[in-house]
Amino acid sequence: MDKFKIIGKSRIAGEVAVSGSKNASLPLLAAMLLPSDETILHNVPTLKDTDTLIKLIAGMGVNIKKEGNTVIADARHVANYYAPYELVRTMRASILVLGALLGRFGEAEVSLPGGCSIGSRPVDQHLKAFEAMGAVINVENGYVKAHAPAGGRLIGCDFTFDMVTVGGTENVIMAASLAKGTTRLENCACEPEVVDLANMLVAMGAKIDGIGTPTMIIEGVESLHGCEYSVIADRIETGSYLAGALMSEGDVLTTNTSAELLHPVLKKFEAMGATITTGDNWIRAVMKGRPKAVDIRTQVHPGFPTDMQAQLMAVCCLADGTSTIIENIFENRFMHVPELNRMGANIRIDGHTAIVTGVEKFSPAPVMATDLRASMSLVMAAACAEGESIIDRIYHIDRGYDNVEQKLKALGVNIERIQG
Ligand code: EPZ
Repeated sequence: MDKFKIIGKSRIAGEVAVSGSKNASLPLLAAMLLPSDETILHNVPTLKDTDTLIKLIAGMGVNIKKEGNTVIADARHVANYYAPYELVRTMRASILVLGALLGRFGEAEVSLPGGCSIGSRPVDQHLKAFEAMGAVINVENGYVKAHAPAGGRLIGCDFTFDMVTVGGTENVIMAASLAKGTTRLENCACEPEVVDLANMLVAMGAKIDGIGTPTMIIEGVESLHGCEYSVIADRIETGSYLAGALMSEGDVLTTNTSAELLHPVLKKFEAMGATITTGDNWIRAVMKGRPKAVDIRTQVHPGFPTDMQAQLMAVCCLADGTSTIIENIFENRFMHVPELNRMGANIRIDGHTAIVTGVEKFSPAPVMATDLRASMSLVMAAACAEGESIIDRIYHIDRGYDNVEQKLKALGVNIERIQG
């Protein structure tokens, strides 16, 4: 397993071009199954997770290739509607092919994703919505076997999600785009990645009202056509690098991104004392002195995103005062806490709340990455600690951060990959 060796202490400063969003790319790649001709998708990041989804779709017979950051897929001939456990177990987002397959072909067999390190993460809402659209669903031998009612098309319906689910909303709007009749969905997720998918579906000929709001109305069409589309910037990657500036009295300029995507995060950065300036496609964070302590609660969009919780916590570790961080989205997303404490942080957990008493500095240590965003909090902490830290299990970071070593090096971090 590869590791990172990081030698601090660095001032995190410089310019970094943000890649396309991982969490937008995955549903957009799944949506390439929907039209019966060619779709071209630009700004797709090169990541383990996007590779997995491309492999999954290729396995279904789609003619798909990635050239640089552009993916070209011709889904004229789809040979099977099957997503095997071997791929799904490496990436939960594989479940997103279920909606596309059911919508277009009225049939799908997709391995049920298991739990993961941040929580049990069921997909009951996805299945409940498909059932409401007339699908017959059986879970057998770890697989969801689903088929549309007689006639092979799902039927539009009114459905209210019991909770806000990003993946659930994405899966269902793909299916509803090709259903017979109108689907009215309440309590939809409004995350920018959901909006990006809805916009691409519209570019394919789908009829969707209420994009970016909790109520979406989708009038099903008989077929969708290919389109050319570009993935939005990765708001979490943007926020992760900007957070480095706050931890190190640094100065980070992120380009190819948009402040529109991360208002709640930028507001917290400002509350912590950073000077944030923005332009059409860039955001800069400049920090002088120690960060101020803040209180954060993760919420669905437009609240503070759970995917920035670990990185913000790393900033709070160095703050002047005590911060409170409440994790509301996932039941187990504090796995980075013991690792940050091993680096000298002072964090206490009480249920879903982490109480972070700021310390003056991190100390270097060997630590273990536990999930994708946790990995980034440890990388940033290591960069700010004086001396050598080793971060193990960095396969997590390879799943979601494009070109991470080069980007960190450009920001002044002394980082080296140790292959193992
Ligand atoms: C997406 O996961 C993201 N993943 C996650 O990013 C992100 O943390 C999450 O949304 C929340 O913003 C991708 O987009 C690929 P959910 P998703 O369905 O869709 C519960 C990262 O680091 N729930 O909104 O799986 C669920 O257990 C990652 O990039 C049900 O109970 O998240 C969770 O507690 C990790 N039943 C909550 O809802 C369901 O049927 C939110 O999950 C669906 C969800």
